[in-house]
Amino acid sequence: MAELLKGMKRTHMCGSLRKENEGESVTLMGWVQKRRNLGSLIFIDIRDVCGIAQVVFDEAVSKEAFDKAGKIRGEFVIAVSGKVHIREAINEKMDTGDIEVYAEEIKILSEAEIPPIHINDEDDAGERLRLKYRYLDLRKPKMQKNLIMRNKVTKSARDFLNGEAFTEVETPMLTKPTPEGARDYLVPSRVNPGNFYALPQSPQIFKQLLMVSGMDRYFQIARCFRDEDLRADRQPEFTQIDIEMSFVEEDDVISINEKLIRHIFNEVMGVEVKIPFPRMPFVEAMERFGSDKPDIRFGFELKNMNEALKDTEFNVFRSVVENGGAVKGINVKGYADKFSKKGISKLEKHVKTYGAKGLAWIKLENGEILSPILKFLKDGELKAITELFELEENDLILIVADEQKVVYDALGSLRVHVAKKLDMLDENKYEFLWVTEFPLLEYDEENERYVAMHHPFTSPVDEDIDLLDKDPGKVRAKAYDIVLNGVELGGGSIRIHDSKLQKKMFEALGFSDEESERKFGFLMNAFKYGTPPHGGLAYGLDRMVMLMTFSESIREVIAFPKTQNATCLMTEAPAAADEKQLEELSISLALD
Ligand code: AMO
Ligand code: AMP
Repeated sequence: MAELLKGMKRTHMCGSLRKENEGESVTLMGWVQKRRNLGSLIFIDIRDVCGIAQVVFDEAVSKEAFDKAGKIRGEFVIAVSGKVHIREAINEKMDTGDIEVYAEEIKILSEAEIPPIHINDEDDAGERLRLKYRYLDLRKPKMQKNLIMRNKVTKSARDFLNGEAFTEVETPMLTKPTPEGARDYLVPSRVNPGNFYALPQSPQIFKQLLMVSGMDRYFQIARCFRDEDLRADRQPEFTQIDIEMSFVEEDDVISINEKLIRHIFNEVMGVEVKIPFPRMPFVEAMERFGSDKPDIRFGFELKNMNEALKDTEFNVFRSVVENGGAVKGINVKGYADKFSKKGISKLEKHVKTYGAKGLAWIKLENGEILSPILKFLKDGELKAITELFELEENDLILIVADEQKVVYDALGSLRVHVAKKLDMLDENKYEFLWVTEFPLLEYDEENERYVAMHHPFTSPVDEDIDLLDKDPGKVRAKAYDIVLNGVELGGGSIRIHDSKLQKKMFEALGFSDEESERKFGFLMNAFKYGTPPHGGLAYGLDRMVMLMTFSESIREVIAFPKTQNATCLMTEAPAAADEKQLEELSISLALD
């Protein structure tokens, strides 16, 4: 073994040295961050997972070490022994900035070619290059901090949940489809030709079965797989902190999860979050914020203008109102001067990406009302609008008229876009919110049937059960999402635990008896043998860590993420399979 480390033995981590270590003989091992030659002195910054230390090579201390140091390049892996000295010029920017190590011996453990990306946090390489050389990208201190933070979060969650009598149970990866609304990843079975496993979209069914088993409180740091369109906060494989509890109501699940969140944020970030979190029914979230995951760090709430415009002669608005659409607006209060005509036309472009046809606006500047639609509005209408929005000097009202969904999407996004432009999104503010009373079902126009908004195991609100036959779209669910600063962090529900109600739900979803039996017969069967009332929730761990590390994307907190096209640029997965493998799996490809 001595050969492997060239007779050296690490005594300290690079980033751990402080002025208290003065005079100590230390051996460090790590990567060469940079080398500077100053004639009779050579400086090498050596980096490991804990940080960076400065090593000085002085001919007067060791001629041999000095000569060797001259041959060293960036990213070489080295071992260095020497004495810790207090620096003459303290570097306040470095944690180890008080000290430097005077090298007596240096060994090269591994040489390195010039890396294709710069190994530092300021590197601006494009993401494709970073992902291709992910192992180098992960050498960056920021990326390592993200992974360490992620581990702290899972540890903290595990500790808390263990303390509350939850048992971590692993559930299968090779399973049947779980209906969470995405496409499944299928895995062919060799020994059952023509049959496929599905990778789990979530452990949903198994965690419910564990409640039937009497496990009472379950959790899992669970990998989930969903074949869906990818975005900054979505990956094809991602991790949930998945939780299920027996003998609980909605309030019980919510309450323990507030304590879990408080625990994690306190332990990992030293942030005190106040509980309980506010709650808001889905309908209110949509009406006030145009979103089921509202960012409540700022105002700019939506106001409905239909009443003020019910007799309007302005064509654009009238036709929308007559066709059952909505005219809504937000008041960007006190910031009219920040948006010139050109600025507003940029905002118009923004809402057009959500299908809006235009963006009307009304400003009050220097006591004067300015608006491209002023000439279309009657005095009474203008008055009603200014009253509705409480228009004051330097206010800017932004208006979208369209069908309901477009208006919500456009203004819901616009208010966040404007707040971002105005630098109003304080990263150090954590505004949690429960969004409750989601609709149980959503009408899917394309397939002309109802689909579950959360998943088909979610219980309707008691007083709405009768509506399931009569008016399915009106039924509210015992479902709740937890939202942090406009990001859906997690979601869950109280489940149906009665096989008759579950059957009714499958009927409402348009499943034939045969179909529900084939897909979920085992679950309905299980419910026949004594099922405790139960409910739970799952967090997107990646999203949680993304917010806690102030990252732009969940790819920054996943060691080896996939691209938007669900590929891994490093391993080049997915890849074609060997003929032989396909043959064994009884698969023939129908590609052109
Ligand atoms: P849901 O489908 O809402 O619920 O998922 C829970 C949370 O998982 C995260 N999430 C994702 N994160 C990254 N990439 C994705 N593709 C992705 N999809 C979802 C989100 C989301 O809030 N079984 C239920 C939970 C339950 O009812 O207990 C479920 O999976 O943060
Ligand atoms: P026009 O008469 O079409 O030039 O429109 C006058 C103003 O109304 C412009 O500022 C347009 O951006 C705006 N506008 C047009 N259609 C809509 C709409 N559906 N919602 C809100 N504003 C609109």
